[in-house]
Amino acid sequence: MFPISRFRRLRANPAIRDLLRENTVTLNDLIYPIFVEEELDDFAPVESMPGIFRIPERKLGQAVKEIHAAGIKAIMTFGVSHHKDDTGSDSWNENGLLARMTKRAKDAAPELLVISDTCFCEYTAHGHCGVIHGEDVHNDHTIENLGKQSVIAARAGADIIAPSAMMDGQVAAIRTALDGHGFSNTPIMAYSSKFASAFYGPFRAAAGCDLIGDRKAYQMDPANGREALRESMSDEAEGADILMVKPALPYLDVLKEVRQNSLLPLAAYQVSGEYAMIKFAAQAGAIDEHRVVRETLSSIKRAGADLILTYFAMDIARQGF
Ligand code: PBG
Repeated sequence: MFPISRFRRLRANPAIRDLLRENTVTLNDLIYPIFVEEELDDFAPVESMPGIFRIPERKLGQAVKEIHAAGIKAIMTFGVSHHKDDTGSDSWNENGLLARMTKRAKDAAPELLVISDTCFCEYTAHGHCGVIHGEDVHNDHTIENLGKQSVIAARAGADIIAPSAMMDGQVAAIRTALDGHGFSNTPIMAYSSKFASAFYGPFRAAAGCDLIGDRKAYQMDPANGREALRESMSDEAEGADILMVKPALPYLDVLKEVRQNSLLPLAAYQVSGEYAMIKFAAQAGAIDEHRVVRETLSSIKRAGADLILTYFAMDIARQGF
């Protein structure tokens, strides 16, 4: 107790602060999400996400070389499709955008990890994450298609499969499909607690997904914490190698709880809306962007994340943490 104990003893000297810091963020922890568009000539700025561009498919090789040279270790790939249909079948066509972009990225920078977002909303005309039967996205039909997409991604060179459709049984279905096609060593990073969040707004513009309706019948209710734990535990039981919580900052309690209940590596996705809030507030002069980015990423680590998906990864690679 004071005056014997004084917290400030350990705070005055910057070197002592460095020595005692409990959590650090390095480029080894970060995954950079990218948007790749077919039939596009030039890099197209995403208005709602300052600093983010849709990458033309034909310039992807050059772009991933630059990303890798900057020190980024892993990317998450999203296709911006011009070949949408009712089921998102282009995503499991071996000559489709998903297969081509995966292969092109791996050919250009073999050491850069390619994590394949495994979902359909970028490839369906209605914008939903699966096949629609009647009024609803059909779960069991969709997980079969997720299996097909995973095999195509793995065959094209994807290092990690990241299912984000929030269908029940998707991890088990993907594990079975991968194992059945010789990819038993390809890990699954499951978007296990993915909430029906308004923070995905800018992403939908970036990825060109015009959604009819909403995703509340398959993504989680933002008010639910216990359910997030059940989702995570069930993905672990189905064979997920890495769990994920998404979005990150409004769900730090969920991250912490998953951390305390699972021994698996844990990822957090700082999503498009979290990025946009920081960028636009900084542009308005309201906050110091660099400091806020460091603070949010440190908080995400403190809550228990091992890995962070963030659109700030390139800024950090260029400017340091
Ligand atoms: C695809 C997917 C989405 C995001 C990642 N994968 C959109 C959604 O579920 O609506 C959002 C990422 C972001 O907002 O940065 N299912």
